[in-house]
Amino acid sequence: MRRVLVTGGAGFIGSNFVRYFLEHYNCEKLVNLDLLTYAGNLENLSGIEEDLRYSFVKGDIRDSVLVGRLFAEYGFDTVVNFAAESHVDRSITDPDIFLTTNIIGTQVLLEAAKQAWKLAPQDKYSREYREGVRYLQVSTDEVYGALGPEGKFAETTPLTPNSPYSASKASADMIVRAYYKTYGLPVNITRCSNNYGPYQFPEKLIPLMIHNAQADKPLPVYGDGMQIRDWLYVEDHCSAICTVLERGIPGEIYNVGGNNEKANIEIVRLILKELNKPESLIAHVQDRPGHDRRYAIDNGKITSELGWQPVHTFEEGIVRTIHWYLRNPDWLEHVTSGIYADYYKKMYGE
Ligand code: NAD
Ligand code: DAU
Repeated sequence: MRRVLVTGGAGFIGSNFVRYFLEHYNCEKLVNLDLLTYAGNLENLSGIEEDLRYSFVKGDIRDSVLVGRLFAEYGFDTVVNFAAESHVDRSITDPDIFLTTNIIGTQVLLEAAKQAWKLAPQDKYSREYREGVRYLQVSTDEVYGALGPEGKFAETTPLTPNSPYSASKASADMIVRAYYKTYGLPVNITRCSNNYGPYQFPEKLIPLMIHNAQADKPLPVYGDGMQIRDWLYVEDHCSAICTVLERGIPGEIYNVGGNNEKANIEIVRLILKELNKPESLIAHVQDRPGHDRRYAIDNGKITSELGWQPVHTFEEGIVRTIHWYLRNPDWLEHVTSGIYADYYKKMYGE
């Protein structure tokens, strides 16, 4: 039975993963290490604290002393690293923290895993590790850059990140690769497309548009709104990560996506329709600098080699997601008060 360190487990995907993993796997221990930045919210995990297998630690993945102590205390055999600064727009206005959290934080975790798992830590030539250990880096399709109208990202596509966020995630991927190539640390990298679902912070497209539409506020669509993203319901991302933990080959990268390419404007219209709100709420605003035009994932490797398949269609998942936000006004109210209001004013004006 696994002893798992999940980082960033109070964020959107991390909290969905903690729920999913505890529900589907009989693990011995799951420790959630999260700094509780603006994006981390323990309300995302309400009810989970009662599970005796679960512990929460408030702390920073860049803190090597803390991370080393947690490895010694809990004897992890598995690390799943979600912790990151994750919002492209914030990386454009404030890139520094993306570099320290996303790159340095990843290296701290890798080093702690190497120290704890290597059978002969003092021998620089040894590549022997404890049986069954695995480090999984949760990366993103954005590391591949942008596509034209045709084609999809494969695992072999060269990395050409365009934003400070995606450049920091690509750098982290390079460090993970280096720990595999140089030290033989058993690692995997997953590169997933855009997620949607419950508990996503309303700075991201779908929850932001739901939130504004409910309040009859303008829906800020960047540029012409014809940028394309490949959407995956968050639970399908969680099941893909579990599949890689179970059957992934050490050192391999797996793309994750659900073949659901949609233009942003299509999604905005769909949300307005579902909420019975007028399209006159749509406000085209100045485009994001360096905005990637299109993402699309070729998921052939994870489906054919590991047998993973998404189970949620976009049509069902998006309706389920909209209704989750409607049923949880308190959650939305809590995360959008205070610092969110300041962020919104800075990004979009009054
Ligand atoms: P999120 O912003 O909702 O959550 C990030 C979490 O990390 C928060 O709980 C935050 O408190 C925590 N965190 C930040 N800095 C930390 C630090 N220094 N130490 C410990 N914890 C820290 O992000 P998300 O959307 O859930 O994304 C999770 C991961 O998945 C990220 O690595 C992201 O790059 C990747 N990803 C996201 C998507 C997507 O569509 N959201 C798609 C593919 C990959
Ligand atoms: O592709 C995976 C990535 O998806 C993850 O790595 C990132 O962590 C995650 O934030 C997401 O990045 P995007 O930039 O694609 O997501 P975002 O929700 O910010 O924007 C989705 C699209 O919607 C994008 O084309 C920009 C557009 N958009 C976004 C916002 C917030 C708007 O038109 N208006 C907006 O107000």
